[in-house]
Amino acid sequence: MAVYQAIKLGYRYIDGAWDYTNSAEAGEGVRRAIQEGIVKREDLFITSKLWNNYHKREHAFEQAKLENEAWGLGYLDLFLIHFPISLEFIPFEELRWPCFWSDKEQTKVTPLAKVPISETWKALEDMVQTPENPNGFVRSIGVSNFQAQLIYDVLSYAKIPPSVLQIEHHPYLTQPDLIKLAQDNNIAVTGYSTFGPQSFLEMNHKGALKTESLFELEIIKKIAEKHGKTPGQVLLRWCTQRNVIVIPKSNNVNRLKENLDSTSFDLTEEELNLISSLDRGLRFNNSNSLGFPIFA
Ligand SMILES: NC(=O)c1ccc[n+]([C@@H]2O[C@H](COP(=O)([O-])OP(=O)(O)OC[C@H]3O[C@@H](n4cnc5c(N)ncnc54)[C@H](OP(=O)(O)O)[C@@H]3O)[C@@H](O)[C@H]2O)c1
Repeated sequence: MAVYQAIKLGYRYIDGAWDYTNSAEAGEGVRRAIQEGIVKREDLFITSKLWNNYHKREHAFEQAKLENEAWGLGYLDLFLIHFPISLEFIPFEELRWPCFWSDKEQTKVTPLAKVPISETWKALEDMVQTPENPNGFVRSIGVSNFQAQLIYDVLSYAKIPPSVLQIEHHPYLTQPDLIKLAQDNNIAVTGYSTFGPQSFLEMNHKGALKTESLFELEIIKKIAEKHGKTPGQVLLRWCTQRNVIVIPKSNNVNRLKENLDSTSFDLTEEELNLISSLDRGLRFNNSNSLGFPIFA
């Protein structure tokens, strides 16, 4: 329903993942919008992601195919490696959506598996539909939560280079060098958690709970007031003016509309710099507490 609503309002990019456990429902919403003639399949850009337990070639294929079937749209526009970390395989029938755990009760963290990213990347390349590979079921491939070193590594052997890098990105975590590296290599950057701590509050994330809301910061509020926009729209515009694609999430129709209408004004260079100066290298989405400090 949320996805159908969003498409009805004008959204065309839907960001999904195996880990979100809702691809079948999201696909249902998309198919309803197509059946009602609101959009055509080719108007939409559907992204999904490979979870950490399925980095081995055969598992990557199996998960990607199941994911494609769950969406029920024929193909995926973009398929990303969700995290640069490989965890032990858990058979699908044993635990369908493991997250970082190996048990339903989420008490046991899944151990690491020895799968190099090169194996996983080659598996993704073989999913891409090309004239030589007409049975491919994804249109483009990319990476998420990768840092510079691993991007250089992937670029050194990729036959199909990554199209997209998806990263946590907000004024508390601006990552200009990583963004420049990606963009210099023709890799489009998508930013998630544009509103910083906001989406982590409902998870009782300790770091997010003690961090001042970006919506409440004087700098953001003043800029919003000056442009007659909301703080949320200013945060989104700051991203898009840095050529970072945004994928804001909302369950509220008014905020969905508000977020969609965030390119109808321009921030000045001074305002962009002022917002960027809030950078504290503050990352909310990390797995340190589980023993995987992948951004260390
Ligand atoms: N690759 C990855 O590892 C990764 C990790 C995290 C997320 N993501 C992707 O990024 C997407 C968005 O990131 P996110 O989940 O961190 O959420 P987000 O878009 O940063 O924030 C969502 C939160 O902000 C609120 N909100 C939305 N628009 C607002 C506005 N204009 N003003 C005030 N509050 C607003 C929402 O509440 P209401 O619903 O009440 O509006 C919700 O609590 C996810 O859906 C997912 O697809 C990817």
